[in-house]
Amino acid sequence: MDKMVIKGGRRLAGRVHVAGSKNAALPMQAASILASVGNIHLTNVPSLLDIKTMNQLLQFLNLTVTFDEEKHELLLDAQQRVASEAPFEYVDEMRASLLVMGPLLARTGHAKVALPGGCAIGSRPIDLHIKGLIQLGATVQQQDGYIEARAERLVGKMIYLDFPSVGATESLMMTATLAQGITTIENAAREPEIVALANLLNKMGARVHGAGTEVIRIQGVNFLHGCDYELMPDRIEAGTFMIAAAVTNGDVIVENAIAAHNASLIAKLEEMGVTVIEQDDGIRVVGTAVLLPTTVKTMPYPGFPTDLQPQMSVLQLLANGTSTLDEQIFEKRFMHLEELRRMNAKFQISGPVAVLSGPTKFSEAEVTASDLRAGAALVLAGLAADGITQVRNVSEIDRGYDQFQEKLHALGAKIDRIDIADKIKLSPNHRTGETN
Ligand code: UD1
Repeated sequence: MDKMVIKGGRRLAGRVHVAGSKNAALPMQAASILASVGNIHLTNVPSLLDIKTMNQLLQFLNLTVTFDEEKHELLLDAQQRVASEAPFEYVDEMRASLLVMGPLLARTGHAKVALPGGCAIGSRPIDLHIKGLIQLGATVQQQDGYIEARAERLVGKMIYLDFPSVGATESLMMTATLAQGITTIENAAREPEIVALANLLNKMGARVHGAGTEVIRIQGVNFLHGCDYELMPDRIEAGTFMIAAAVTNGDVIVENAIAAHNASLIAKLEEMGVTVIEQDDGIRVVGTAVLLPTTVKTMPYPGFPTDLQPQMSVLQLLANGTSTLDEQIFEKRFMHLEELRRMNAKFQISGPVAVLSGPTKFSEAEVTASDLRAGAALVLAGLAADGITQVRNVSEIDRGYDQFQEKLHALGAKIDRIDIADKIKLSPNHRTGETN
């Protein structure tokens, strides 16, 4: 298992390019199951573990998958007969594998998908996915660790989501494209990834209206076909680098970041005294020596994203005074704080609220990434820490950040990766003998 080793105390400066959006790509990969004619050709696809896991699952389902990681191009062909069973190994590896359930049901009339197990950020039920499929006319059974759905025909319906779940909105939107008549999803999620998926589906011949608002209306069609689609930049990767700039009191241009997708983060950074400048080529973030404390509450989009909460907590811990963090999306998403305690962080957790006492002088320690964003947060703390921080379990970071270590290194961070045998995988500049 690899570790990242960070020597803290360096200001980040320069430019960093944001990769294509992971969370937009995953439902699009699942949506390719719906295309019975032609290929789906996705561009700007990030080269990430989660994307490859979904590709493997699609191959298992009998799709032909060609991923050119250098060119970031993914070609998905579902014209042949599609299998309808997704085994536990894929769902266990990545919960987003569940996204194939709706498209499989719509395409083949049958879907059998392993139930996801527990996860590091709390229990994550799938009741909304299932209730919606039943409303569209499916019979759903849960047995032996699998959910099995069948439907001879799906019929459009008004579906109200108790919570604007991203995954449930995506799943039901995809399923409804091939249902008879009109489906409306009320209290739908409004994330940019939902809008992107609707745009892809419409390019495939679907009729989806209202994505990005809380009511999405889908008029069913008989079949969907292939198309080309370019993925938008990853707003969580962009946000992570923006916070990294602030954490190190640096000056970084996050190339091609879309300000509108990170409005809540920008507002919080500005409140803390960080300068954020929207430019034609991206967002420039200039840190400050004295950070002000702030309150952060995670909410469905356009609220503050839970996927930036761990990274943001590092910045809040550096601020002069007491900050609060209210996690409203995932019940157990404070595991990173317990690791940060080992680096000298002071905080108190009460239910969904953490009260963070700053300013923290992070000290060196060996810490473990419990999940993807927790891993990123620990690396950011390492950038600000005195001494050498070692982050274990960095395969979690590989799930969602393309070239994280290399990008931070190019911005001036002292960061390396060590494999199981403790051999340092040198960053590019080290290989050419450059120092920094
Ligand atoms: C997606 C993102 C993830 C992000 C999350 C919230 C992808 C691949 N993943 O995950 O990175 O952290 O949105 O922005 O896009 N819920 C239910 N019942 C359900 C479904 C969800 O109660 O059937 C609850 C969850 O337990 C959670 C909340 O709804 O408390 C939000 O979850 P959801 O929006 O569904 O997250 P994901 O789609 O799994």
